[in-house]
Amino acid sequence: MQVALAALTLVATLAAMAPAAPGVPTGARVTRLATDFGVRLFREAVGRRGDGNAAFSPHGAATVLAALQLATAGPSRRQLETAMGFSIYEPGAARELRRLRRELAGPGHRLAEAVGLFVARELALAPGAGTRFARALGRRLAQVDFGEPQRARAVLNAWVQNHTHGMIRGFLPPGAAGAGTRLLLASGVFFGGSWLQPFPGAATRRRLFRKADGSAAAVPMMEQTAKVRYGEFATAQGLPYAVLELPYAGGAVSMLVAAPARPQAPLPALAAALDSGLVAAWAANMSRVPRVVVLPRFSLETSWDLREPLKALGVRDVFEPEAADFTALSAEEPLFLAQALQKVRIEVNESGTEAAAATAAIVYSRMAPPEILVDRPFLFIVRHNPTGTILFMGQVTEP
Ligand SMILES: *[C@@H]1O[C@H](CO)[C@@H](O)[C@H](O)[C@H]1NC(C)=O
Ligand SMILES: *[C@@H]1O[C@H](CO)[C@@H](O)[C@H](O)[C@H]1NC(C)=O
Ligand SMILES: *[C@@H]1O[C@H](CO)[C@@H](O)[C@H](O)[C@H]1NC(C)=O
Repeated sequence: MQVALAALTLVATLAAMAPAAPGVPTGARVTRLATDFGVRLFREAVGRRGDGNAAFSPHGAATVLAALQLATAGPSRRQLETAMGFSIYEPGAARELRRLRRELAGPGHRLAEAVGLFVARELALAPGAGTRFARALGRRLAQVDFGEPQRARAVLNAWVQNHTHGMIRGFLPPGAAGAGTRLLLASGVFFGGSWLQPFPGAATRRRLFRKADGSAAAVPMMEQTAKVRYGEFATAQGLPYAVLELPYAGGAVSMLVAAPARPQAPLPALAAALDSGLVAAWAANMSRVPRVVVLPRFSLETSWDLREPLKALGVRDVFEPEAADFTALSAEEPLFLAQALQKVRIEVNESGTEAAAATAAIVYSRMAPPEILVDRPFLFIVRHNPTGTILFMGQVTEP
């Protein structure tokens, strides 16, 4: 039987989730909650995006939002804790996250995560704030002069590029992390893995990929005959789907590919059921069977604005200049979360996968002039004001 797969969205998500090895239950409590929070955030974010290609890093997002807990207080912090399902202050939580980071970087594969904590040089820190970050995350706050935004952006983008093995360049676009920045929390995740069993290059050929809208496109598809772990499942609503596991050399990381059995079945219906428990249940219910595996070679890059998805998960006050409480970081200046960004790139070919994600939460001073970031499709109108005559108008959906 051939397994023709049409689930790019899920492929990319799962690759970034660093799933547990086959048969191994999901991780310890905080690890599991952090993953589930990241997956919920993905669902919110992808739901706003329509059904195009998308790649996300649940882990990268969870790392930055957990760090944000350390900078906030009052309802701002409680909303983060509620959305994430844990507090970084609960006994053992910070230790578990540090251990997780060490474990991910274990031998046998190229997987690494770096956390960057950049604080404005002039910000008067609340007593103990520096120690709190250092204790919880094992990293010191690094001082940056955001007063020179161009230089600051170059430094931060170099940091991101460095910790994503050059896969993510120009992460902060011009205008992000401007002079009003007081804190920037960043995570850089990189994974490079060779398939345990590579796809023979000569077997790749163009085949039809059936898109959700019913059309089809000829794309390069890799092919190999292998004994793979495979299982057939159904969602609670009765949507049947198949899951295939492709392990990377070293054994600790694999890609899980989940595709509805019917080509035009909705992918969101499948994504909606995803959490760490389901992925663990797949692992426990799959068996090794001989198959001809046919999978597109693909490469995706996605940039996310996580503000609205986070608000939808109940993280609201941090974004409101009037309500945000960052007194755990500094009591001197009123601060708020101005941006939450992620950029992800993944490349999958015959030899394996390279994937990287950069995530940042950018905290601004409320005293600084607010920024107007036109980072979404917009209408424009050129108008002669004295007479109200509209000379030109249009829309920009893809500059
Ligand atoms: C990049 O990483 C290397 C090794 O970790 C380090 O020596 C160097 O300073 C880093 N560069 C930047 C721009 O962070
Ligand atoms: C996996 O198998 C167990 C029993 O072995 C069953 O209880 C569970 O529902 C199965 N999970 C899925 C997702 O099929
Ligand atoms: C797959 O991609 C990696 C880099 O992402 C590259 O080094 C390797 O040569 C590629 N393999 C094939 C068969 O194209």
